[in-house]
Amino acid sequence: EPVDSFDYVIFGATGDLTMRKLLPALYRRFAEGQVPADARIVGTARSPLDDEAYRERARVALRQHLRPDEIIDATLNRFLRLVHYVSLNGADSAGNWDGLKALLASNASDERIRVFYLATSPDLYGDIARNVAEKGLRSDRSRIVLEKPIGTDLETARKVNDGVGKHFPENSIYRIDHYLGKEAVQNIIALRFANPMLERMWDRESIEYVQITAAETVGLEGRGGYYDGSGALRDMIQNHLLQVLTVVAMERPSSLDADALRDEKVRVLKSLKPLDPRNLGENVARGQYVQGNTGGKPVPAYREELPGEAPSNTETFVALKAEIDNARWRGVPFYLRSGKRMPEKLTEVVVQFRAGEPGLFGEARPGSRLVIRVQPNESVTLPLFVKHPGNGFGLDEVDALSPLGQPERIRYRDSYEGLMLDAVKGSPALFVRKDETEAAWEWVTPILEGWRNAADGPDAYEAGTWGPESARELLRRSGHRWVEDVAAWA
Ligand code: BG6
Repeated sequence: EPVDSFDYVIFGATGDLTMRKLLPALYRRFAEGQVPADARIVGTARSPLDDEAYRERARVALRQHLRPDEIIDATLNRFLRLVHYVSLNGADSAGNWDGLKALLASNASDERIRVFYLATSPDLYGDIARNVAEKGLRSDRSRIVLEKPIGTDLETARKVNDGVGKHFPENSIYRIDHYLGKEAVQNIIALRFANPMLERMWDRESIEYVQITAAETVGLEGRGGYYDGSGALRDMIQNHLLQVLTVVAMERPSSLDADALRDEKVRVLKSLKPLDPRNLGENVARGQYVQGNTGGKPVPAYREELPGEAPSNTETFVALKAEIDNARWRGVPFYLRSGKRMPEKLTEVVVQFRAGEPGLFGEARPGSRLVIRVQPNESVTLPLFVKHPGNGFGLDEVDALSPLGQPERIRYRDSYEGLMLDAVKGSPALFVRKDETEAAWEWVTPILEGWRNAADGPDAYEAGTWGPESARELLRRSGHRWVEDVAAWA
């Protein structure tokens, strides 16, 4: 059913994220009847466009990024009528703020919700928030959504948070991490706390280690300007993978309320054992891809994809060993890794349980392994041993497999769909609180510092492989292996 009526103002409206993710997400919610007929979507960016020209761009983008069966011409036309555009340089207070104000005022009421979605460069977030406030655009029901990256280290993250925080109270600031919008990530909370059997085993007594992988086959995709200044640690680990880690590791929250949940998540981040920037090799491996093959096609090296083939020390792969220094997890490694140009697009959490007593059924057996596949093809698998039919006590391994829900009938929402509407509804549970972002940066910043002072750069790995040898070495030191190595060996 439709949510309360709203104006969704998007800063950075001609950018890649808006075209690829935000507009398709709003279209899908509209097609499902959740967006009221008098809602408005107001794009702002520097380009001098009028409503019609922007709608045309939006139409092209939607046709490109939605599946053909999702596009119904009449629906698309009705959706585009909700779309408006105001040309504006967010940082510039002399800009056309009056135009935006007049547009918003032309349909204003106390109940109408305003969402300001910031998808520009984060350096502008403070200025945009100030202008929105000073030009009187905030209403009683306003929220501000901040896209990642929030800063590039702890200090700059604080600057962004404080800049926005001067003009918006924390409970109206929605820091988006689209991994929290993924069905299979939210499902971890249900899996852990709705199954007493798992809940009782979810600790250092039973679990040997956890692996969290987010692998991509794509390379730079023309985002060299952003990516080369960022790298895999800032782009994926600081936000998405640490968020997944908090959901896997947090204590049972007292309720599913936003702050109860986020209090527990932030406790995990604050319990991460600090890494020593002078001795990172123990815990961290980084890599950069060189020429290789993905999907059967030869692909160039990272450096060759950069404009001007500039030399670069940016990491396109990170693997690390994190430890959580609390009673539940002390001594259990959490292995995190993410990379571009890996053999497949795969996001997965592997929970390896400890091995049991050897003997009764022959040779020692590895412990059970719970695999939570986040994408593609969301699923949860927990193989069990059963007796092989017939004489004796030979064993078979059977997969207790569950696709999440009933995928043949339901379509899982794209990660942005639910989150964008949560901001309208005023449900911040799946957004990142200020103290969470800052705790995550606090843990990650010594790695950046260590790398800055290191004598050598990232290790080379061939495109289309699982990263450099140093990533394998990282686990070998603790007697462990990455999941694909275990499979290859079994
Ligand atoms: C983004 C990163 O946040 O997440 C991209 O900036 C990355 O580099 C993307 O490709 C991955 O998201 P998903 O949902 O495809 O796993």
